[in-house]
Amino acid sequence: MNAPLIDPFQRAISYLRVSVTDRCDFRCVYCMAENMQFLPKKELLTLEELDRMCSTFIDLGVKKLRITGGEPLVRREIMTFFNAMGRHLDSGALDELTLTTNGSQLARFADQLYAAGVRRVNVSLDTLNEDKFARVTRWGRLPQVLKGIDAAQAAGLRVKINVVALKGFNEDEMFEIVDWCASRDMDLTFIEVMPMGDMGETDRIGQYWPLSDLRAHLAQRYTLTELTKRTGGPARYVRLEETGQDIGFITPLTHNFCESCNRVRLTCTGELYMCLGQEDMADLRAPLRASEDDRVLQEAIRAAISLKPKGHDFDYSRQDVQGQMSRHMSHTGG
Ligand code: GTP
Ligand code: 5AD
Ligand code: SF4
Repeated sequence: MNAPLIDPFQRAISYLRVSVTDRCDFRCVYCMAENMQFLPKKELLTLEELDRMCSTFIDLGVKKLRITGGEPLVRREIMTFFNAMGRHLDSGALDELTLTTNGSQLARFADQLYAAGVRRVNVSLDTLNEDKFARVTRWGRLPQVLKGIDAAQAAGLRVKINVVALKGFNEDEMFEIVDWCASRDMDLTFIEVMPMGDMGETDRIGQYWPLSDLRAHLAQRYTLTELTKRTGGPARYVRLEETGQDIGFITPLTHNFCESCNRVRLTCTGELYMCLGQEDMADLRAPLRASEDDRVLQEAIRAAISLKPKGHDFDYSRQDVQGQMSRHMSHTGG
C-alpha cells in the first residue's frame, strides 16, 4: 500500500481535476480571451500518458477524478480515455469519474459516457436567454446545449448546472433558473466570479455578485435549510424546503473554503497546479517520460504535494482586485 497524499496543512488529496485540452468551442468572457493562443498539439500528453498519470494518482489515493478542459469533449478520441478510466471504477479504486462540460457535445457523447461509468455531469450554463447566452459565451448557442442536457438526462446521467453569478447579467434570472432546475430534477450550484485571465475588457468587480446577497434573495421566497451534504467539491448546500431542491454555493470570495481543500489540477501538458489561485506548479511530464518505473512519477507527485499552498488570495474588498491570476481559467479547467 502506498501512503496517501497529505499536504503541509494536513489536507488529504483525494480529488484530481484533469484538463485534457486547453481548447474550447466557446469563448466565455470570464474564462478566455476572444483570440486565444492554444498550445501546439505536440505539447499535449497523449491519451496513454494521461492514463498513466491518472492511474498513478489513483495508486496514491485519489478517489475522485473530474475531467475538464477547455471543453473536455472536444479532445479527439476522448472516449478512449474515459473507457480506460472506467477500469478504476470497476476495481473499486476510484469512487467517481465525472466531468465538467459546456454541454455542446453532450448529445453526441452522453450514452458513451454513461457506458464508461460516468453517472453525473456538471454543465456550465449562466443564462436561459438565447441572446445573453450568445453574449456571455461569445461563440455558444443555447439550443445546442439544451439538447445536450436532454441527451444527458435521457442517458441516465445526473446533471448539475453551474451558474457563474454575474451582477447585471443573470441577477434577474435567479428564480427562473432555480425553477427550471427544479422542474427538470437537476442540481444547481452558483459560483462567485474569480479574478482569473485576461480582465482587460471586463469589469470583474462590477460583475461580482456576492453569493451572500444571492442567498438572501432566495431566502425571501424560500425557506433555506443548511445541509451537511458534500460532493467532494467546494460547494456548500442548502435545501429549499418548498421545492425539495438542494442548491450549492461556491464562495471563494465571501467564504474561503481552502482549509478543506482536497484537490489538485493536472493540465493537458502535464503541469500540476497545486492551487487554483496560486502560480505554484510542478512539471510531471518530464518525470513521466524519464522512466517506465512509476516510482519516479510518484516521487515527483509527492514532492509537488509537499509544496501545496495554504490557499488563494482572491479579494475584491478593497475596491480593487487582489490575488488576481493572469492564467486563464481554461488552462486548469476551473
Ligand atoms: P462537485 O463534484 O459537483 O462538487 O463539483 P466541483 O465543484 O468539484 O467541480 P466543478 O467543476 O463543478 O467546479 C465548479 C467551479 O468551482 C470550478 O470551475 C471553479 O470555478 C470552482 N472551484 C472548484 N474547486 C475550486 C477550488 O479549489 N478553489 C476555488 N477557488 N474554486 C474552485
Ligand atoms: N470565475 C468563476 N468561475 C469560472 N468559471 C470559468 N471562469 C470562471 C471565473 N473567472 C467556471 C465555468 C465552469 C467552471 C469550469 O468554471 O463557468 O462552470
Ligand atoms: Fe484549494 Fe487553492 Fe481552491 Fe483554495 S483556492 S480551495 S487551496 S485550490
